[in-house]
Amino acid sequence: MKKIIFSLFVALSSVSAVQAADANAGKEKAGACSACHGPTGVSGSPMFPNIAGQNDAYLIKQLKDFKSGARTDAMMAPMAANLSDEDMADLAAHFSGLPSANEQAASSGADASTDAAPASAPAAGNVEIVTSTPAAALYAGNVAAGQNKSAACAACHGADGNSLVPTYPSLAGQSANYIAKQLADFKSGNRKDPVMAGMVAGLSQEDMNDLAAYFAVQNTQAGTGESNAAGHKLYLGGDAAKGITACIACHGVNGKGMKQAGFPGLTGQSKDYLKKQLASFRDGSRGNDNSAIMRNISIKLSDADIEAVSQYITSLK
Ligand code: HEC
Ligand code: HEC
Ligand code: HEC
Repeated sequence: MKKIIFSLFVALSSVSAVQAADANAGKEKAGACSACHGPTGVSGSPMFPNIAGQNDAYLIKQLKDFKSGARTDAMMAPMAANLSDEDMADLAAHFSGLPSANEQAASSGADASTDAAPASAPAAGNVEIVTSTPAAALYAGNVAAGQNKSAACAACHGADGNSLVPTYPSLAGQSANYIAKQLADFKSGNRKDPVMAGMVAGLSQEDMNDLAAYFAVQNTQAGTGESNAAGHKLYLGGDAAKGITACIACHGVNGKGMKQAGFPGLTGQSKDYLKKQLASFRDGSRGNDNSAIMRNISIKLSDADIEAVSQYITSLK
């Protein structure tokens, strides 16, 4: 109801404006923001700011600054790069009109069922944040000890973590905190795979940190696949109409990921492996992504999108 009144207000108050900001159009365009800022502008992760209920003019200024480079942030830069002045005004009208985080928290007990979150996608705020990876895991392991322990992994993942078999992912150069998180998730059952469950059952936290440290310092091999135009477009720009966040925002220009944030590198992975992971996030059979970041994105991907973007990723060097 609040939103309806708000859009009416915008419609009435901006008749004289040359280019009226449109909160409804902003809502449509906000799909690409929800992976990080939450479907209602309240983020499910402490990494990302809440933007619901923020001042309209402040939001527009921040977006302009991210676009011009006056404010620098590796995640927001590619998001803002694609926005026109009109997009920014619409998005700001939408987010400034939403109830703030405190207001949403206060009313969620009373009428959670009328929340604006789409029923099809798990709302970021509802998913428990998994804290299996202490930041210390980044440097916690011992590389030499990890090398000794990695003999058990070589048959499938390659001695230096570069897999030769499409069904087995490469681990070389992946961040230690991502690898350690995956191992802990396989062990807890938070990520399910019958083969890996058997491999990690006997590993201690120290073993996992050592293995992660060893694979993290190996060299990632460049992709050797052919590029794909549709996949290229989706990876770099997302799909505003379908509300798909650009992959580049988290996985980086060259697919190297963002180590501190725990966003994995994708470069060097086989198309088979990439397709399987995206399909598993989409049907929820892989659900170990914090705040459902990848599930919320994959649910909007068609089979053709998955095919195209996976093909494109195999061409990243
Ligand atoms: C990949 C994750 C990600 C996506 C997707 C994303 N953002 Fe952000 N956003 C961030 C991060 C991280 C920051 C904090 C940047 C910093 O530390 O300076 C931020 C900051 C902002 C801010 C500044 C907030 C403040 O209080 O200063 C605004 C406004 C914003 N984002 C709007 C958007 C809009 C609109 C979209 C969709 C078009 C979007 N963001 C998509 C990650 C993201
Ligand atoms: C018999 C083959 C096999 C062996 C041996 C094996 N793995 Fe795996 N590993 C797999 C498969 C298959 C997957 C992909 C599971 C999936 O599809 O989700 C995987 C996935 C992983 C992942 C997740 C990679 C990613 O990008 O998310 C990590 C990390 C991993 N393995 C580490 C190890 C370590 C460390 C060892 C040795 C202790 C090991 N594996 C031994 C088959 C194996
Ligand atoms: C908001 C950040 C974000 C965006 C945007 C994003 N991802 Fe991810 N992605 C992640 C995170 C975080 C994980 C790891 C989840 C976990 O902990 O297992 C991941 C995991 C993956 C994996 C599995 C990697 C592996 O080694 O198993 C694939 C494949 C993937 N993403 C592809 C994509 C594609 C394709 C897009 C664009 C359509 C995309 N991602 C957009 C954050 C993001």
